[in-house]
This record gives sequence, C-alpha cells and structure tokens, in this order.
Amino acid sequence: MAYFIGREPGAARIRLGERLGEGAAGAVHTVRGQKGVAAKLYHPGKGLDALERKIDAMLARPPKLPPVEHEGVAYPQIAWPQGKLYDGQGKFVGFLMPEIDFSRSTSLVNLLQRSSRRAEKLSDYYGYRVLVARNLASVFAQLHGAGHHMIDMKPANLRFYPALSWMAVVDADGFSIAGRNRRLPADQVSDEYIAPESWRRQPAELGEPQDLFGLAVIIFQLLNNGMHPFAGSGDAGQASDLQSRVLAGLYGYGLTKIDGARPGAASIHKTFRRSTRMLFDRAFTTTDDRPTAAEWRDHLDGLVGMLIPCEAKPLEHAHFGSGCGFCAHEARLQSAAQVHREREQRRARRASAQARARRPVPLHGSGVPGVPWPGTIAQSRRANAVPLWQSRPGLAGTAGSRPGSRTAALVAILLPLLALGGAIGGAASFSRQDQRTETDLWNAAFIVDARSMKDVDSDPASMEETANDAGSGPCASLSGWIEKRLCERPQLAAAERQVTAQFERTAARHSGWARQALTDEHLRWLERQGRCVLMPDPDPCLAESYADRLAALEKRDAS
Ligand SMILES: Nc1ncnc2c1ncn2[C@@H]1O[C@H](COP(=O)(O)OP(=O)(O)OP(=O)(O)O)[C@@H](O)[C@H]1O
Ligand SMILES: [Mg+2]
Repeated sequence: MAYFIGREPGAARIRLGERLGEGAAGAVHTVRGQKGVAAKLYHPGKGLDALERKIDAMLARPPKLPPVEHEGVAYPQIAWPQGKLYDGQGKFVGFLMPEIDFSRSTSLVNLLQRSSRRAEKLSDYYGYRVLVARNLASVFAQLHGAGHHMIDMKPANLRFYPALSWMAVVDADGFSIAGRNRRLPADQVSDEYIAPESWRRQPAELGEPQDLFGLAVIIFQLLNNGMHPFAGSGDAGQASDLQSRVLAGLYGYGLTKIDGARPGAASIHKTFRRSTRMLFDRAFTTTDDRPTAAEWRDHLDGLVGMLIPCEAKPLEHAHFGSGCGFCAHEARLQSAAQVHREREQRRARRASAQARARRPVPLHGSGVPGVPWPGTIAQSRRANAVPLWQSRPGLAGTAGSRPGSRTAALVAILLPLLALGGAIGGAASFSRQDQRTETDLWNAAFIVDARSMKDVDSDPASMEETANDAGSGPCASLSGWIEKRLCERPQLAAAERQVTAQFERTAARHSGWARQALTDEHLRWLERQGRCVLMPDPDPCLAESYADRLAALEKRDAS
C-alpha cells in the first residue's frame, strides 16, 4: 500500500519500514530513508474523520517541547504529530511523528521499585528520581500551557531516557486536545490514578484537574519509595484496592491526620520539606486547588538543588535537610529483624531444653568428656548466629563510599570538573544538565560500588562469600573488587593511574558542553569496565579496558 504526505497529486510518497509496535488504535512503523521519523497508521474503522480533526488540532497547537540534543543525538521528549498521511485515494490514514528510540528509553514503572531499578540498571540514587519527577512536571507544564491534557496518566504510559533523565512521551494522539473551537477529548483513564471527582465522569469530560491528580500521584511515588499516596495501613474492613482508597479519601501522609488513614511502613514522607508536604496535601485533599505542573516543576527544581547525599550511603540515599528517611527506615527494619531474631532464639532455646529433657541422660554427656550433645551445639550455633553484615558493620553500607576507595577518588576528581563545567556553561539550562551529570556521577559511582559489592547488602550468602574472599594482608581491607585487584596487581594500578591522569589532562583541554560529554563518556566507560567481574579471569579484561580508554582519550586530545 502506498502512503503520501499530502492529498494533492504529486504529493511525496513514503515507504514504511519495520513495525515498531501496535495498539488498539493503530500500528507504528519506521519510515524508510527518514531516520528518526515514525508513521502511525490507524486501524480501519477507527472513526477517521474525528481522528483527522484531532491530528489537525495537534498540528495547529504543538507544545513547546523540542528534542533534547546530546552528543549529536536528538532525543524527542514527545511524539507529537508532524504531518498527516493519506492513501492513494487522498483518504486520511494516519500521521508522521518523531520516532522514540525504545532501546534508549524505558517505562517510568521501572524507576519506582528498587528491584526493577537494579534489573534495568537504572540509577538507585534518590536524587535521580527527584530529577526525573522534575522533568516529568516540566513536560506537563508545557503540555498544559498549550491547553492539552494527558488524562490517562500513569507510570506505565510514560517513558524516559535513563541516560538523560528526560521524558519520552508516546501515544499523544490519545490525549485530550484543545482545538480552535472545541476540545477533542481523551477516551481512557486508568484505576489508581483517577481523581475522586473524576470517578463518576466519562474520560471525555475530564481535564486538567485529572492530570494534576495523576501527576501528583506519580511525583509522590517517585519521591516516596514507590509508595502510592493512598496506600498504607488502616482499620480492619477498610478498602484495600487503591482506587477505592482514593475514593474513600484514605490519604495517610498529610500534615493533618485523616481518620483511619495510616502511612505505609516504608514511607519517608516525614523527611520531606514542609512546603513539599503542603503541595501533596493540596493535590490529595482538594479538587480545585491542586498544584499546577509548573508549580511542581519549580518546586522540584528547588528540591534538586537542596539534595544532600546521606553520610551512610551517599551514592544511594539523599534527603532535603531533615535527616535521611531511608536510613531511618532501614533502622526500623533492623530493629524489627532483631526482635524477630530474639524471638527465634528463645524458641530454639526452649526446643533444645525440651529435647534434652526428653533424652536419656548419658553418663558422660556426649560420651566425650566436656563435650555436650552435638545437636545442642548445632542448635545453639544456629540460634545465636549473627548475620555477617551485623558482625561487620562496614560491609553493610556501600563500601565504595568509604574515604580512600577508588569510588571516592573518582568522585573527588569528577566533582570539581563538573563544578567548573557549570561555571563555564553559565546558562540556566546548563545547571539542569549539571545536576543531571552529577546524578550520573553518583550513579556511576554507585554502579562501581554495586559491582564491587556483588549485592552483598541484600544477600547474606554472598556477603559471607565476600567476607571470606577478603582474606588477610594489606589489600584485604579494601572495599571493592576492583580496588582489591588494583592493590594486588601493580601493573593494573599503573594503568589506572595513567588513565586517570590522561582523563584529567583531556578534561582540562575541554570546556562547557564538551567537558560534560567527556565526563559522561568516562562514567559510561567505568560502568562497562565493571562488567569485567563477570569474566573467569578479570585481569586481561581490565587491562584491555584501560588500554582502550587510554587510546580513546589520547585520540581526543590529538583531534
Ligand atoms: N513515536 C514512536 N516511536 C517509536 N515507537 C512508537 C512510537 N509511537 C508508538 N510506538 C510503538 O507503537 C506502539 C503502539 O503505539 P500507540 O500507543 O501510539 O498506539 P495505540 O494504538 O494508540 O495504543 P493504545 O491502544 O495503547 O492507545 C507503542 O506501544 C510503541 O511500541
Ligand atoms: Mg492510543
């Protein structure tokens, strides 16, 4: 089938490439010979007249959301229609839009939980989530500024570029669009994100207040450990599904307590700034005074600027000046685990005493003088066992953040460079990039850290393994596997020093955006280098990685 970008005879013809995806409304393809362009073709019988009017209205009033340029690659923030498509008879069949690279973007759902962040290799640094929340609000400030509403707002319908923290929004033709004389409505909305006042209304009747409710829910989830603002504990018999709790007003995180609504155990909302809590309260307890997307964007901009990495886990936790909510939560979990352990110990002691009482007492205990029953030893060992991460507190945290570690050294090199880059860049938009890159820095440092820890903080078995690996000697006390390796292998340590010195020299010759790009590139290299741990013998992999990096840096210097 032939498709044309105009109705008139002689209009340019396009050829469809691979199919990128398909939904209830249509199928999306690449366009041959037009890199970065996608074509959506509506399924037959989809009310094409109404859809054409909607696409006309979208073309007439696009939001101000240009693609973000990074290292020569354009990253569209939204797949907004760019032109209409017709068949050979001049009938409207669909539209052209920017292609969103799905391999470079991911669903916002993946950012909410720690397990999916790890599975998708997304930053675990809290500040990164605050930054994504800020960029989300910024997209909606522009969209609302142009009079359009998403309506079916939920994390599953939103994508972002992990490397940039910017949004990548698709399916925009499903939004509610402001036409010249009338609104071209949305036709869908999803449970858990439906504002209480929207519940009894059709999606077509909904507007900005619905978006502002959904936006606030997502921001709350990003800021509060993935928790939904209407999740939490409550009285017996209370609604447990989230949409029913929204309708019942069971918001347990307000400055003023609501009867029967209690926060979830993992919540860190008490460490939010009072101004943040007031915005959430307005979003979830009023229908006509919800913070606008622009208000959220500006507020989150301020929050990003005031983030303080926590001392215990600076590469993961951060707070806004009122103490680290994550550490407080971990402490609560630990004390609950302690109570549980003590209960288990008492139970084991009781069981062992009962077993002893039932056994015929041998003349000499176990038969060997001074040695009690073997069963008793095993039981008491088990009962009194202290998990390794308790007996070695240093291992429980992100060890890479310890002063003197390779990660700390890197942070020390890169942070001043970033600060300098910011001063050179000057422009307001640079500060955003600066924050983003700083986040990447923390993130990359965290990845360095995570690979060295092999997830020991969550897995007692591997914790034990790592502790056993530590052995003794001068290198044993070092935290990460790379640090240990460098300590034990002078040749690798020399290569590390050479690359670091070259990086500093190359960085000094660049300024502004070029320096940003170089720093980003270096962080990505570090991340890739960490994969050497997967090799049976990581040494050749590390050596090759240093050689490649040195060559790449020298080539940059020469160009
Ligand atoms: N701009 C784009 N770039 C790349 N892929 C895209 C783009 N737009 C859509 N896709 C792919 O095509 C799929 C279907 O697109 P879209 O969601 O727009 O269709 P739909 O028929 O409106 O779907 P739904 O029924 O969910 O509303 C998407 O899930 C995605 O995989
Ligand atoms: Mg759609």
